[in-house]
Amino acid sequence: MLSFRDTVRDDFEAVNQLIIDQLHSEVGLVENIGHYLIKAGGKRLRPLLVLLAAKACNYSGRRHIDLAVIIEFIHTATLLHDDVVDTSELRRGRFTANAQWGNAPSVLVGDFLYSRAFQMMVGLGNLDVMRILADTTNIISEGEVQQLVNIGDPNLSESAYLQVIGSKTAQLFKGAGHSAALLGETDAETCAALSNYGWHLGLAFQLIDDALDYTSDNTNLGKNTGDDLAEGKMTLPIIQAMRCGSEAQNQLLRKAIQAQDGAQLPAVIDIIKDTASLDYTFAAAKEQARQAKQCLNVLPPSKYHSAMLDLADFAVDRSY
Ligand code: IPE
Ligand code: IPE
Ligand code: MG
Ligand code: MG
Ligand code: MG
Repeated sequence: MLSFRDTVRDDFEAVNQLIIDQLHSEVGLVENIGHYLIKAGGKRLRPLLVLLAAKACNYSGRRHIDLAVIIEFIHTATLLHDDVVDTSELRRGRFTANAQWGNAPSVLVGDFLYSRAFQMMVGLGNLDVMRILADTTNIISEGEVQQLVNIGDPNLSESAYLQVIGSKTAQLFKGAGHSAALLGETDAETCAALSNYGWHLGLAFQLIDDALDYTSDNTNLGKNTGDDLAEGKMTLPIIQAMRCGSEAQNQLLRKAIQAQDGAQLPAVIDIIKDTASLDYTFAAAKEQARQAKQCLNVLPPSKYHSAMLDLADFAVDRSY
């Protein structure tokens, strides 16, 4: 399915093994929750990006395996916290940790994963990588807080929305590309290219996530669709539908966002369809993926380079 994964199959298996090894804790509950979430899988796109980017830069050491695990731990920590904040009940096809164990253990195990990632980063001994990932983690948190502040605001602009998704999602993809390039001691131009590739890939990825929240189903996606409306979260499908809808449609959308009214989901989906707002969102994601791929032009051709082009396409074409 994910052909770009086969390009780094052995390294990917090493990453999966290291994830298990690094989840070790003397406290049983930490391991239980960690394994529960990690065993559920997930797409592991960010570690794959690290592996491919490092290889595309001709990196020949083993530290990209650690870096990939660090990035996946940061990602998983954000998911643990995000599901508490979003009161979500389904993740990776299973009950969320908060649904299963409650909010407190989820938040605390999220902290464990963040701090384990930072312990591993110290082990890498690369101050530039540490700086990038410390900034990245800080910006993700800001993005999640900004999104919280924006909840229920039907006047949120497209640019304010893009700023949130840049911080909460694209920043980690960017940090993954950038830090992988730094491992390879790559020149500044290539570093910037991989960093920008991650940025545009991450924007494409979140735009599609926000579209799937209105188009997919729980089984396919492994998480509850319709959550964004129920949270009063303004995403591009809604922003565009408000711009193109009739006065009556606009009023319905505004009220649903303000009241965080998940019961309006069928009516909202009708309006989103009527105004072709999903097409608009998909087109925006496709444009970001195009820009991501364009960033790779400075890299020499290789199977890793090709796999990164495929990864950008997958971010848009995916159904889960
Ligand atoms: C979910 O990310 C969080 C978002 C940024 C939308 P993924 O869809 O990559 O989650 P997993 O790791 O595959 O479960
Ligand atoms: C992405 O946003 C979450 C993080 C970057 C932590 P969402 O809240 O849309 O992610 P999902 O849909 O729950 O995976
Ligand atoms: Mg969420
Ligand atoms: Mg969220
Ligand atoms: Mg989402």
